[in-house]
Amino acid sequence: MNVLVTPVNCLKGTLHLPPDKSIAQRAALFALLSESRSTITNYPGAEDPQTALSCIEHLGATVLRGDGMVTVDGAGRDGIRKEPGEIDCGNSGTVMRLLSGILAGAGVSAKLIGDDSLSSRPMKRIMDPLEKMGATFASAGGGVPPLHISRKGPLKPIRFPLPVASAQLKSCVLLAGLFGEEPTEVIESVASRNHTETMLRLPVVREGGKTVITSSRQQIVPPQNLEIPGDFSAAGFWLVAASILEGSDLQLPGTGVNPTRCAALHILRKMGADIEISNERMAGDEPIADLRVRYAPLKPVDIEAEEIPNAIDELPSLAVAMAFADGISRIRGAGELRFKESDRLAAMEAILTSAGVSVTAHTDGLTISGDPARTASGALHDSMHDHRIAMSAAIMSLRADDVSEIRNAEAAAVSYPAFWSDLDSVAHE
Ligand code: S3P
Repeated sequence: MNVLVTPVNCLKGTLHLPPDKSIAQRAALFALLSESRSTITNYPGAEDPQTALSCIEHLGATVLRGDGMVTVDGAGRDGIRKEPGEIDCGNSGTVMRLLSGILAGAGVSAKLIGDDSLSSRPMKRIMDPLEKMGATFASAGGGVPPLHISRKGPLKPIRFPLPVASAQLKSCVLLAGLFGEEPTEVIESVASRNHTETMLRLPVVREGGKTVITSSRQQIVPPQNLEIPGDFSAAGFWLVAASILEGSDLQLPGTGVNPTRCAALHILRKMGADIEISNERMAGDEPIADLRVRYAPLKPVDIEAEEIPNAIDELPSLAVAMAFADGISRIRGAGELRFKESDRLAAMEAILTSAGVSVTAHTDGLTISGDPARTASGALHDSMHDHRIAMSAAIMSLRADDVSEIRNAEAAAVSYPAFWSDLDSVAHE
C-alpha cells in the first residue's frame, strides 16, 4: 500500500495511542508460562502482539479474545507442547528472541520462522548464551532465522554479562533461566527496558554500577492481570510532529512513561520541546501520564551513548526533529539501529536526503544539519517494510513543500494500525 501525505499547517486534538506492544507481547508470553488464568485488558490489535497470541496458542495456551481484552489459560512451565513443529514469529524480533528462551528452557524442539525482515535479523546473540545453557541450534547460516531449536541434555544455569544493551537478549536468557533448578543471573551494565523483570517480579540487585537480575524455577510465574498502557514509542511520532509544526497542540492521555523507555522525552525537552507531563499515575506496575505537546523552536542536540538504549525505538523520529533544529545534531553509539526491522540508519539517511536535509550516516549514528526555516521537499519514501520508518517518513512529510508518497506504508500496522487515520484526525491543512 502506498500512502500520499499532504503537508499540514499544524496538528491539533487528542489521540488515544495504541497499547504498548513490548508490554503486550510479554504479557502474552508470560501468561503461557503461568499456571493460572491471565486477563489482559486493552490488548493491542496490532500485528506483532497478535502474532504473540497465535504463538502461545500453538504452544498450548487457551486464548479467548474479547473486545480489546484477552483471557489466557496458561500451559504452565511443564505443560508447553514439546514438539509444536513450525512457529511463525511474523515480523517480531521480541517474539522470536523471547520465545527462544522459553523453548530452550522447556526443552521444546521447534522451528522458528519469520517474515523476510525477521529472517535477516541477528540471532547469534541469543544462540550463544542458550547454547551455554544446553540448547542446540541449527540456523539457515550466519545466525539468522529460521532457527531449529532443541535441548537434549539438562538445562545449565549461567551467569551472563550482557555483551549488548538489549532487553530482548536479557529477557531471553532470564526466561530460559526460569526453568532451571539453580539461579541464572543476567548482569546489565547499561539499563535497557525493564518490563520483563517487573512483570515476572524477578529479583533485581544493584552491584557496583551494575544490575543483576535472577531467575529460576523456584520463582512462581505470576498471572498477567494488567491493562496495557499507551505505547510511548507511538507517542514519540506525535511528540516530534507537533514540535516541528507551528501552532500544534496535541494531547496524549494514558501514555506509558517507564523511565527505561522514555529517554526521548528528555532528549526532546533538552532540544526545547514544549511537553507537559500531568496526572502521573500507575497502571499496575507501569507508570503512565497524560502528555501535552505544543510547537516550540528546537535546538540541536548530541544524544549521549548511555541514553541510546532507552530511546532506541524513537531515534528515527528524533532524527526528523533534528532536521528542523537550529544547527548540527548527532546520534552516536546507535549501531544497534542497523539490526532492527530494517537498517534504520540507512533508512533515515535515505528519507532525510530525499527530503533535502544534509545528513551523514556513520557506522553507529547520524549527523544531521538542522534548519528551523527549512521546508522539506515532497518526496517518494520507502518504509523498507519497517513500521517505524513508515511513520517517521510520514511526519517528515508533514513539513514538506509538496505531497510525499510513502511506499509500503501498511508496515505501520505492525505496532500502530490506526496511525494513518489518527494522522487524518489531527491534521489541520
Ligand atoms: C524490545 C527491545 C528493543 C526494541 C524493540 C523491542 C523489547 O530491542 O528495539 O523494538 O520488547 O524488548 P533490543 O532489545 O534488541 O534492543
